[in-house]
Amino acid sequence: MTGGADARPRVRHPLPPARWPTREEAARARLFSPLALGPLHVHERTWVPAMVPWRATDEGFVTPDVLDWYARFAEGQPGVLVVEATGIRDIPSGPLLRIGDDRFVPGLRELVEVVRERSRGRTRLFIQVIDFLTVRRRPEPATFFDRHLAVTDALRGQLALWLDDRRWREAPEREVRACLSAAERVTLETVLTDRELEALDYGYRERVWDTHLPWIRELPRVLPGLFAEAARRAREAGFDGVELHYAHAYTMASFLSRLNTRADGYGGSLAGRARLPLEVLAAVRARVGRDWVVGIRYLGDEVVAGGSRLEDAVWFGVRFAEAGVDYLSVSKGGRFEDARQPKVGEAVYPYTGESGWECMPTVWADARGPFARNAPLAAAIRAAVRAAGLTTPVVASGGIGSFALAEGLLERGDADCVAAARQTLADPDWFRKVRLGLGHLVRRCEYTNYCEGLDQRHKQVTCKLWDRDLGPGDPAVTLARDGRRRLVPPAWRPPADL
Ligand SMILES: Cc1cc2nc3c(=O)[nH]c(=O)nc-3n(C[C@H](O)[C@H](O)[C@H](O)COP(=O)(O)O)c2cc1C
Ligand code: SF4
Repeated sequence: MTGGADARPRVRHPLPPARWPTREEAARARLFSPLALGPLHVHERTWVPAMVPWRATDEGFVTPDVLDWYARFAEGQPGVLVVEATGIRDIPSGPLLRIGDDRFVPGLRELVEVVRERSRGRTRLFIQVIDFLTVRRRPEPATFFDRHLAVTDALRGQLALWLDDRRWREAPEREVRACLSAAERVTLETVLTDRELEALDYGYRERVWDTHLPWIRELPRVLPGLFAEAARRAREAGFDGVELHYAHAYTMASFLSRLNTRADGYGGSLAGRARLPLEVLAAVRARVGRDWVVGIRYLGDEVVAGGSRLEDAVWFGVRFAEAGVDYLSVSKGGRFEDARQPKVGEAVYPYTGESGWECMPTVWADARGPFARNAPLAAAIRAAVRAAGLTTPVVASGGIGSFALAEGLLERGDADCVAAARQTLADPDWFRKVRLGLGHLVRRCEYTNYCEGLDQRHKQVTCKLWDRDLGPGDPAVTLARDGRRRLVPPAWRPPADL
């Protein structure tokens, strides 16, 4: 634990005043200059990173709401738009997009077509592909002791020791469960293992180093094929590339983590931790070929105690670049290890602790503030990749919501592309407005994370700024399920003479 989000001194930082460029200045800006991502020409360095909007069906299919969401981002014509984290397995995972079977391809193809049309072919479209392990909701204590807890000889032994009564070594399971159900906290903290206590207090959660579980042991055998097939489907659906999700709280980031203690050659040392991520990359490349973009999103810093730091990320970045990845997109934090305890019946959410805050920093921040806060990570990775003689583009993200910040990063060589998630959510046309010299019309993100709160509760993600001009009962406006919020940002048309 790093002390949790509350340990942070909370000072509200005002939005930095924005100086927007004229149209002529914008035309000369690096932000609006082209670049090559491997085999792909990208018309400008503006980037919308993956954001889960909770709009798929419970079976993981594309819906009309998913199409509207990406169509609206496409209207802003960013250089790159990355579709939300999409599951590579054919298992139920709630209203998250899935790509674990060919039956998902037609819906995804429709998504590709809508983005091509609305961006007038200007926006390159990638899809982020993800694997995650089991995370269960925090149980009612009675249910946990009745059903979930495994009554083992070790547990009986601990109980006998703590209660100083040998009879517990032979006690029937029913009695052990009843005893623990009525026990005081101190007893539970003494007789349960750390993982059992965690399952009680936070909900059961698997780790990639739980190699006593056969399906976890087998991950290195299974994942390269699953990722490769997902990438093959993405190519068939017409995407311009795939982004391997090696960031935040999920399986591949956990392989890279310093916390990964696997002893089977897929953990421990830097090389051991990078082994599966590199094997997945190789399998994906072998399936889709060299003429199609394969990128990686990963962490510049895990921000949790004992986790990977920038020096690990620099080493991984150079290995990924040597292995031929087409871009590196750098994120930060977003881990389970320091997440807040969920309420009973809810699942732990990896963006509630310090590491989660660093992933999506708000204006309530320490002296460094939230703006472009994570750019030094991208800069260090990029410098190491360049020092190794490689030209792999690096994408920075985190609190970048103005032209000056974005252009400054590019000018200094801290990054090759600039990703903006929440600013683009607040105003999907913001890049376009800046390009047209209409920066003063940008609806600026306030970085107070109303949207992230919705994501946390698995509610349809919207921005609080969209509803300011929401009149009652406008039939042209699609509303969220609660009937109170716009589901799509207000429309914007550039003046006719532009
Ligand atoms: C609602 C929401 C959903 C997100 N979903 C994803 C995701 O699916 N994959 C991912 O890599 N990052 C995800 N992120 C993180 C963003 O891509 C981005 O890294 C983060 O918000 C920091 O950038 P920003 O300051 O420009 O918002 C999400 C962020 C938000 C606000
Ligand atoms: S809800 Fe708040 S933090 Fe999220 S995009 Fe809108 S203004 Fe930004």
